[in-house]
Amino acid sequence: QYTSLHPNFRTVSPNHVTPPPPPTSITSSTTQSLPQVSVKPIIQSRAYSPQHFYQNRILDQYASQPITPITLRQLIVFGRNLTEERIVKSGNYVRSELPIRIAHRIRDFQNLPFIVGTNPHLSMVYDLYWSAFEKLRKFPPVRTMEENNEWCETIKGLLKNHLVVIPKLAMGMMECSEHLPGEQIDRFMNTMLRTRISRRVLAEQQVALTENWHDPGYTYNQSENDGWIGVISTQCNAKEIVEKCAKMTINFFKEYYDVEPPQVLTDGQVDTTFAYIPDHIEYIIYELLKNSIKGVIEKHAPSIISTSQSPSKQMLKSSQLFPPITVTICSGPTDIYFRVSDQGGGIPDKLYPYIWSFASKSNDKKILHKFTNFSKVPHMAARVEEYEQQIVPPELSLGIGLPMSKVYAEYWGGSLNIFSLDGYGVDAYVRITKLGNQIENLV
Ligand code: COI
Repeated sequence: QYTSLHPNFRTVSPNHVTPPPPPTSITSSTTQSLPQVSVKPIIQSRAYSPQHFYQNRILDQYASQPITPITLRQLIVFGRNLTEERIVKSGNYVRSELPIRIAHRIRDFQNLPFIVGTNPHLSMVYDLYWSAFEKLRKFPPVRTMEENNEWCETIKGLLKNHLVVIPKLAMGMMECSEHLPGEQIDRFMNTMLRTRISRRVLAEQQVALTENWHDPGYTYNQSENDGWIGVISTQCNAKEIVEKCAKMTINFFKEYYDVEPPQVLTDGQVDTTFAYIPDHIEYIIYELLKNSIKGVIEKHAPSIISTSQSPSKQMLKSSQLFPPITVTICSGPTDIYFRVSDQGGGIPDKLYPYIWSFASKSNDKKILHKFTNFSKVPHMAARVEEYEQQIVPPELSLGIGLPMSKVYAEYWGGSLNIFSLDGYGVDAYVRITKLGNQIENLV
């Protein structure tokens, strides 16, 4: 599948603008003398045309600028007392920031080895990024609320179009694993995913602040609006988050395997509240619980998962048969901790070194199960899984839930660690910073 020449990437050197290679290699006048290549005309013209050369020079202007990172606290403080002037101001910050941020990623694509650019999944994401870059950079300055509304419509469209990005990237990288060392795949994926979160946070916050502004029922009094400021909740309750994720995961397993799954118990400082983007923490807790529940069922009633049938429903109907999963919550001076402990048999020692990798082949690390009922999973995970379902063939599992969770945990300066006792169970430690003073982690 890599035989076709795909000139989409690396048309200019990343550091200096040099003219693209003479167009002799793939123009129609000379193709007869070349080995047969199948290149879509649009890609051909984009890669080698003067227009593309000009576009790359513009890209340089953006990719050479540093980004201006933010903290969660800045977003909170800014959104606390909005005025039209402030919404317009943040609209313009997002308008100047997004094209710079996306330009850096287009450059990353261009720095990948040529053959990787032939992958259709990666090339699709590259095209999406180019098209978004063009739209974003061409949007005129926002001066009024009406113009801000139009700006929000534009970014809402892009947010929707880019829902396919994660599974496309993961599939593309999986298919290219023969051509790239694992470390390079992981570095690329980590950067892509972190910076994608950053762009989406900026875009979603601008849209949500604007919607808050237009919502007659919205109040800027935090105790009256459940602590919401755009997509941030200043009153995330640790126990409620765990319970919400546990309920959704348990319901799924009940329905899918016709089994009463293990209980999820919560202990420790359960009343802890903190300011965060709930989608981010829910994604992590949901992924961890999903792995834990599956591990416990697999270890204590293996036939259920391996055959998808319940051989002895009567025996398996009771959750008492399974050791519970315990989520311990702890609130320190600067951080909140969630420890998810299960007795699901642990991660085999031979797989453990690869759990954070986007690179290893999914068959080697089938830790995850693919869900089919998206209404039952948290917002963020549902969005990722829905598109995974559409893009990834059913026999494959991307297995990106854990590395993705780590990316989310580290995004605002937290961490995710997994300790496994092979044969017994897993302890996963999520640390979330609670002061909101860490800048976005983009490296
Ligand atoms: C993404 O989701 O990949 C984005 O870059 C979104 C942004 C264009 C608003």
